[in-house]
Amino acid sequence: MKYAHIIGWGHYLPKQILTNDEIASEVDTNHEWIFTRTGISSRRIADKSETAATLAFEAAARALTRANIHPSEVDLIIVATSTPEYIFPSTASQVQSYLGAENAGAFDLSAACSGFVYALDMATQAIGTGSVRNAIVIGAEVMSRVLDWKDRGTCILFGDGAGAVVLQGSSIPGGVLASTMHADGSGGNLLSLPAVYHNPIPALGEEFLSQNGTTKNTIDMQGRQVFRFASRVVPESIMEVAEKANWNLDEIDLVVPHQANVRIIESVSKKIGIPMSKFFMNVNHAGNTSAASIPIALCEAVDAGRLRPNDNVVFVGFGGGLTWSAAAVNWLVLPSEKQPRFLDHEWRRMRYVFARQRAKLRQWSRQIGARLAGSPTPDASLKDGKNKK
Ligand code: UT7
Repeated sequence: MKYAHIIGWGHYLPKQILTNDEIASEVDTNHEWIFTRTGISSRRIADKSETAATLAFEAAARALTRANIHPSEVDLIIVATSTPEYIFPSTASQVQSYLGAENAGAFDLSAACSGFVYALDMATQAIGTGSVRNAIVIGAEVMSRVLDWKDRGTCILFGDGAGAVVLQGSSIPGGVLASTMHADGSGGNLLSLPAVYHNPIPALGEEFLSQNGTTKNTIDMQGRQVFRFASRVVPESIMEVAEKANWNLDEIDLVVPHQANVRIIESVSKKIGIPMSKFFMNVNHAGNTSAASIPIALCEAVDAGRLRPNDNVVFVGFGGGLTWSAAAVNWLVLPSEKQPRFLDHEWRRMRYVFARQRAKLRQWSRQIGARLAGSPTPDASLKDGKNKK
């Protein structure tokens, strides 16, 4: 089971579309500036009931349907996110419960916009050692909740969404062949998000934050410097991972980069000599969805027929940390071991409803058990996919 193959993929974008013109009605900017400087026209915004976990669940459910495997066959769930609703339980644990993936371990991974590629590497290594057969790797973000909507330097860039892949171990050569991971913490100040965002501690509040040097609990970015950093590390990463996979650059069929800015990718394309037509971009309608951007773009690339069996594809991420990371994947979707069953999709959705009810029953039985034992009643107040805001 040496090779980790992508056997399923799925993405979810919230329904609400926010256009450049709509942002321009709130802050001093305009569509022309945003579009020519970034390539972005619109982005999706999560509604109040949606969280990183609910978006991640939707993407994972679609990926499992495509992979045609049951949640109980999943051994590991990793969610790359910078916008979890809770520090713990992890977003991945919430997804595990929503899916009813009773045999899966689950954890979140924090590497900002490089998170998905980092997580893909972690899952690939776990499959390579034989400790895991099936893993779900998810990138999920609700960036709209961590933006200063008055800061035109950042609020125009980001959007919400989630993408997921199912990885499966196989002895057939192919799948994730090589990856690279890098970090430079000395550049952490160039792109940062303080940890007190969804649930600021009321007892500490604004006063505590201002005394401790910040009243901000939103993204802060030195755009020009991050732009320069990205234009330098993305070509380096592509070359490094191609070399590790034993590919010449002209053997790369498609690059799915982190979707931050079309101009960054144009500069990368020139530097490295890979034509723009080989870079898949969807930043125009999705904006920058941080850790979710690569798996969402991957799904759209597949839907657009941009990936054929045996194609060589490179994922390349970059962002806060600073971090950067790349993966070389031989796109060899293995035929499913099982045939999809009649009404498979509907059955799966019903199972997920049961999984949520079962999780609630477990919470109640814990409460009753605690009462009977005479211990203080734990407050089973974890919101089931409902954000406080
Ligand atoms: O996912 C994490 C990785 N993040 C990134 O990769 C982001 C990388 N950086 C960027 O994409 C670009 O730096 C930005 C899109 C954020 C900014 O583009 P830029 O071409 O670097 O603009 P700038 O910050 O150098 O600003 C140029 C001018 C300034 O005006 P002056 O000083 O020349 O008069 C800004 O005040 O544009 C002004 N400006 C705006 N004008 C209209 C900045 N933001 C806006 C805006 N609308 N939204």
